[in-house]
Amino acid sequence: MQYATLNNGVKMPLNGYGVFQIPDLQEAEESVLTAIKAGYRLIDTAAVYMNEAAVGNAIKKSDVPREELFITSKFWVNDTGYKATKAAYERTLERMQLDYLDLYLIHQPYGDVYGSWRALQELYKEGEIRAIGVSNFHSDRLVDLAMHNEITPHVNQIEVNPFLQREESLKVHQEYDVTVQAWAPFAQGKNGLFTNELLAEIAKKYNKSVGQVVLRWLTQRGISALAKSVNEDRIAQNFDIWDFELSADDMSAIATLDTDTSSFFSHRDPEIVKKFGSNKIQG
Ligand SMILES: NC(=O)c1ccc[n+]([C@@H]2O[C@H](COP(=O)([O-])OP(=O)(O)OC[C@H]3O[C@@H](n4cnc5c(N)ncnc54)[C@H](OP(=O)(O)O)[C@@H]3O)[C@@H](O)[C@H]2O)c1
Repeated sequence: MQYATLNNGVKMPLNGYGVFQIPDLQEAEESVLTAIKAGYRLIDTAAVYMNEAAVGNAIKKSDVPREELFITSKFWVNDTGYKATKAAYERTLERMQLDYLDLYLIHQPYGDVYGSWRALQELYKEGEIRAIGVSNFHSDRLVDLAMHNEITPHVNQIEVNPFLQREESLKVHQEYDVTVQAWAPFAQGKNGLFTNELLAEIAKKYNKSVGQVVLRWLTQRGISALAKSVNEDRIAQNFDIWDFELSADDMSAIATLDTDTSSFFSHRDPEIVKKFGSNKIQG
């Protein structure tokens, strides 16, 4: 397994397991246990996924010591603001039966994120959280937050996949030494990702699956990748990406798939902002 070193020196596994859209708590718990057995050490959840408790149960049942795991959660838009964020963190720890998180993120760039950031900075400085960050922040919002606060986010979790490669955005993250973490590395299978001809051809060459090629492509770019699966074989397969390396030519070929377009929606679309603000989109 390879790691990213965050701008505060904390090491974070490059490939992680995510539990978005696993509402069945039994299934979420079993899947996390399967992922830990397969070798995953980074587990990503969020208050809005409604399965933090299941993740906590799996952590408790696993025989891997807590300090070897890297646990991330996020708070939702309705918990932005200084006081609300501190209270949300307490609730998350309680649901997960944990004393601390390795990474706590502002889930969306909406609401009083500056108040939230003051709360996160305090929790971080008090040693309550090992790293703090944001999610779904476009580079302009990230720079603004970094420039007007003491602590620059350690991580920004954003959509990155072969159809949305974020080359320009990566340069800004590098300038501020913010580690990029990819959500929906497979675009949740949209736009024919798993049957894409070019990816399938490359996968065949290395005797790997399209999923493995995508995860390897991300991590070779220094991007931490979160993959979700509830299938035991695919969970194991998605972790098994460290015994091959994509050539420079294959990396360049994958670069041609970029459409610079989200497979879901734009976080800058006012209609989307309205939906998030009124809780009509969750996750
Ligand atoms: N911060 C945010 O706003 C945000 C947003 C979305 C996601 N996330 C995080 O990122 C994680 C990953 O993103 P995601 O869950 O949206 O989507 P994803 O990982 O891109 O795609 C998951 C889908 O791909 C399938 N799949 C997984 N591995 C496969 C493989 N090797 N071959 C074929 N199909 C495969 C899964 O089906 P099976 O389960 O049946 O295998 C599932 O339908 C989430 O779980 C969450 O932790 C964060």
